[in-house]
Amino acid sequence: MSKKIGVITSGGDCPGLNAVIRAIAKSATSRGWTTIGFIGGFEGLLDGEFKVLDYKSIDGLLFRGGTILGTSNKGRFAVKTGHGVVGSLDPEVIEGSKKQFKTLGLDALIVLGGDGSLTIADQLNSAGIPVVGVPKTIDNDLNETAMTFGFDSAVDCATDALDRLHTTAESHNRVMILEVMGRYAGWIAAHAGVAGGGDVILIPEIPFSYDAIIQKITDREALGKRFTIIVVAEGAREKGGDFVTSGTEEKNREAKLGGVGHMVAKEVEKRSGKETRCVVLGHLQRGGAPTTSDRLICSIFGAKAVDFVEEKLFGHMVSYFPPEIRAVKISDAVGTLKNITENDAILSTIRSLGISLGE
Ligand code: F6P
Repeated sequence: MSKKIGVITSGGDCPGLNAVIRAIAKSATSRGWTTIGFIGGFEGLLDGEFKVLDYKSIDGLLFRGGTILGTSNKGRFAVKTGHGVVGSLDPEVIEGSKKQFKTLGLDALIVLGGDGSLTIADQLNSAGIPVVGVPKTIDNDLNETAMTFGFDSAVDCATDALDRLHTTAESHNRVMILEVMGRYAGWIAAHAGVAGGGDVILIPEIPFSYDAIIQKITDREALGKRFTIIVVAEGAREKGGDFVTSGTEEKNREAKLGGVGHMVAKEVEKRSGKETRCVVLGHLQRGGAPTTSDRLICSIFGAKAVDFVEEKLFGHMVSYFPPEIRAVKISDAVGTLKNITENDAILSTIRSLGISLGE
C-alpha cells in the first residue's frame, strides 16, 4: 500500500543531512511512496510548510553540505535549555503537530537529529505521531549507537586543521591550540587529537589542570621538541572550574559554549613563557561535503529508516554497531549522553601514546 512520509532535519546542521534525505526519498520512491520534507525543522510541521521530495528534487544531494530543508535548535519545540535541562513540549504544540500530520495524510515522520531533536521526536511519538529516528550529530554523543552521521566529517576537518597547525607550531617553536566542538563529550577532540598527532587532548569527561599541561610542554622541551599541539573540546573544564560560555544565555536554547581554547592559551603562555596561539575551528567542522564514510552511513541510515516505516518500527531509531544495523528504542538513546569512558579504546590509545589528558 502506498505511503506518505514526512522528513524533518532538526538541531545543529552537519555534513550528511542531505545524503540521508536523498536516501529516504530514493528508497520511498522505489516503493511508490511519497516523501515530503518539512522546512526549518519541527517548525515546518507545525506551520504546514514543506517541499515535495520527488526523484527530480534530490539531484546532487549526496555530497551537498547542510540541509536543503533548513533546521533549528531553538523555537517552539526547544525541549533542552541551559546545560541540557530537558523539558516537555507544550500541549498546544503537540496538538498542532498532530493536526498537521493528519491534514497532510502522513503515515510516518522520519526525524534526523541528536539527543535534543530525538527527545522531541519521542514525545511526539508518545502523543500518537508514528516516528522513526536517524542518529545525527557531529559530537557522536548519542547513546545506543556506536556512530552518528556527521561525526566522521567533523573529525576529518579537525584532523586537517591539526596537520596545518603542526607546520606552523614546528616552524615557530610555538604552542598551538585547536578548539573543536564537543559540548559534553570529547569524541571529536579525542579522535582528531590522535589522528592529527596532538600532544595534549582536553575533553569534557576529564577536567584538566594547568600544571599537567605545563609538565607535558616541559617534558617535550627536554626531549628537544620545541613545539606542542593542544586539542581542546569546547566543553572541557579546568578541575573545579565551570564550562566556558560565549554570549548571553537565551531562554529557549542550550547555552552557547566557546572560549576555553583562548583561556587555556593565555594561561599556558603566562606559565610556560612560550608563544601560544589558539584557533577556534567552530562551524567549519560542521560545514561542507560529507566524507566517503559518512556518505555510506547516511545512505544506509536513510534506506533503513524507510524499512523501519514499512515494518512499523515506530518509536525506534536506526542504530549502527558495525557491522550490524539495529532498531533501538528512541527513549533508550536519549536522556543521557554517550561519554568517553575508560572502556573506550580511544582513551587507552591516548594514554599508551603518552598524550597528556591534562590530568
Ligand atoms: O550539538 C552539536 C554542536 O555542534 C555542539 O558541538 C555545539 O556546542 C553546538 O552544536 C553549537 O550549536 P550552534 O551552532 O547553534 O551554536
